[in-house]
Amino acid sequence: MLIGNVVVEPPLILGPMAGMNTLAFRLLCRKAGAGLVCSEMVSANAIRYGSVKTEGLLETCLQEKPLSIQIFGAEPDVMAAAAQHVEAAGADIVDLNMGCPVRKVLKAGAGSMLMKDPDLAVAIAAAMVQAVRVPVTAKIRIGWRRGDASYIELSRRLVDVGVDAIALHARTAGQGYRGPADWSAIARLVEAVPVPVIGNGDVFCAEDAVRMQRETGCAAVMIARGALGDPLIFAQAADLLAGRPARSFPARSRLALALWHAQVLALQCGEHLGVRRMRMMACWYSRGLPGSAKFRRDVCRAVTLSELADAILALARNLPPNATFEAPDRAPIEDMTFE
Ligand SMILES: Cc1cc2nc3c(=O)[nH]c(=O)nc-3n(C[C@H](O)[C@H](O)[C@H](O)COP(=O)(O)O)c2cc1C
Repeated sequence: MLIGNVVVEPPLILGPMAGMNTLAFRLLCRKAGAGLVCSEMVSANAIRYGSVKTEGLLETCLQEKPLSIQIFGAEPDVMAAAAQHVEAAGADIVDLNMGCPVRKVLKAGAGSMLMKDPDLAVAIAAAMVQAVRVPVTAKIRIGWRRGDASYIELSRRLVDVGVDAIALHARTAGQGYRGPADWSAIARLVEAVPVPVIGNGDVFCAEDAVRMQRETGCAAVMIARGALGDPLIFAQAADLLAGRPARSFPARSRLALALWHAQVLALQCGEHLGVRRMRMMACWYSRGLPGSAKFRRDVCRAVTLSELADAILALARNLPPNATFEAPDRAPIEDMTFE
């Protein structure tokens, strides 16, 4: 699958997730089999004012490429300058956030507020396309609220100004994460635009990814929450898409990934912050494993990397020898309202 001139192989994409998609996690997902990884959303205004924290979000390395960096904002010239900045920082693709329903972002007129102002959205996309050589994509929702299906017309206009692919989170902005994603909306968009459509929403296991591609005809499948604690979802989905049976992985290999994740995160953002950021992640890696309740308690108390590593190793040591990881709870992580 191609986005502009960028090869996305296999056609499986780690969706942008604020607070989650660190360089460490993106590297893991790429190694596990994602064909493309996305950064978390980055504020165009923060780039403009030279925020040191924001520069940290742009850290990348060769091994994770191709990388899509997502930016959000509401002013065409500021977004164009931010697109140039992230291109120079190493983005292979620049993505326009049109789906975020967080109040702070909406108040600034950005994120899914752009679904309400198609003229501005198109002006921003056009300015970004003019500003960079790499492909520009947009991540949208179905509309602003239920009954609003403006996404088809809007997508056509985005494509007309040069957007190379559209990712559709198949819910309206008003829905947040409520209700099932409407995959039929993805199928309708596939029919309506000449560029690749990336389907997104409620892919929680490898079988879901194949089903989404089959039911909608989307060019690629984007997985966000389903990859939390389970980067190997990409390996398994890649197997199924290639017509092979999905590999099954021992539970220990997933805990090895958790250990690696923790170490690289600590390296990247320092031990104190790295351990704190890893706590919730580590709990997700342990979902469904015997001993996970005690593990969660230990992890939440961990302050140093060695305490965190000890908890992971103890969980691995106490697993039955042939334990495999079958995530029992494929339900959405409902309490996550952040987008
Ligand atoms: C913790 C979290 C953070 C997110 N941050 C972003 C973001 O920065 N930009 C964005 O476009 N979407 C963001 N999303 C939305 C996801 O990319 C995705 O569209 C949504 O979760 C639906 O896909 P899923 O069912 O595979 O999780 C976020 C989702 C979660 C759970």
